Amino acid sequence: MSNLHVRDFKLMAIRILAIGDIVGTPGRKILREKLGAFREANNIDFVVANCENVVSGSGVTVKIMEKLLACDIDVLTSGDHIWRRMEIAAGLVPNGRLIRPINYPDNCPGRGITIIESKKGVKVAVLNALGRLFMSPIDCPYKALEKAVTQARRETPIVLIDFHAEATSEKIALGWFLDGQVSCIWGTHTHVQTADERVLPKGTAYISDLGMTGSFHSVLGREVAPVLQKMIQQIPARFDVAEGDIRMNGIIVTVEESTGKALSIERVQLKEFAEAC
Ligand SMILES: [Fe+2]
Ligand SMILES: [Fe+2]
Repeated sequence: MSNLHVRDFKLMAIRILAIGDIVGTPGRKILREKLGAFREANNIDFVVANCENVVSGSGVTVKIMEKLLACDIDVLTSGDHIWRRMEIAAGLVPNGRLIRPINYPDNCPGRGITIIESKKGVKVAVLNALGRLFMSPIDCPYKALEKAVTQARRETPIVLIDFHAEATSEKIALGWFLDGQVSCIWGTHTHVQTADERVLPKGTAYISDLGMTGSFHSVLGREVAPVLQKMIQQIPARFDVAEGDIRMNGIIVTVEESTGKALSIERVQLKEFAEAC
């Protein structure tokens, strides 16, 4: 490939980083300390992160939302913990940079879709939805997303979906349902990164779960001992956020700007401390 072609490719593609559920202070710490340099080193134009667990492991406040956005994140998505701190209702509308699942009832505060310009001026639509398998009852995510994707594509071909769901089957099925209609669908909520990333036949990048951004010396970001106590003795315990072995999990997706088709998807794991050689 000539240099001219390489240059053309770079001009036409946008590189997007999606970050898995940020859990508590450790999750914020690694983003505050490392995200800026990571973004630059990997030529990232747009960053989306899931913030449903960011305040003490559950929910998000306006103040913490603003701190996260100041870490060079473009859009924050959420999930079933979004209402744990109801003050966030006031932060869900003003700048469109925090969204809640689209299939909550219509009269809930906030929106499940936002369209934001990347640093280089490319319009990117981000949608968020909740799954229904092994989760609380909620409106159909397929119907809600189908309608919202049609709306988003009137403004931009680059459409991203954070599908916050428990079951891999429900997530994979959504991938096939919207293949070719959106640029990328990633799962969140389970906090464990899956190794099934791929570009589907019609051009939608897909992964069942991004993983977690927080302490990995933990059970899904929480201290091990109280979780074990609850599992073994069935006695309720307080699950504080764990602190050791902090990592950021996510994906980098490359998307053709003119068509919105995904060109590649790769898993990312960034550690707080580099491993010794
Ligand atoms: Fe969740
Ligand atoms: Fe979560």
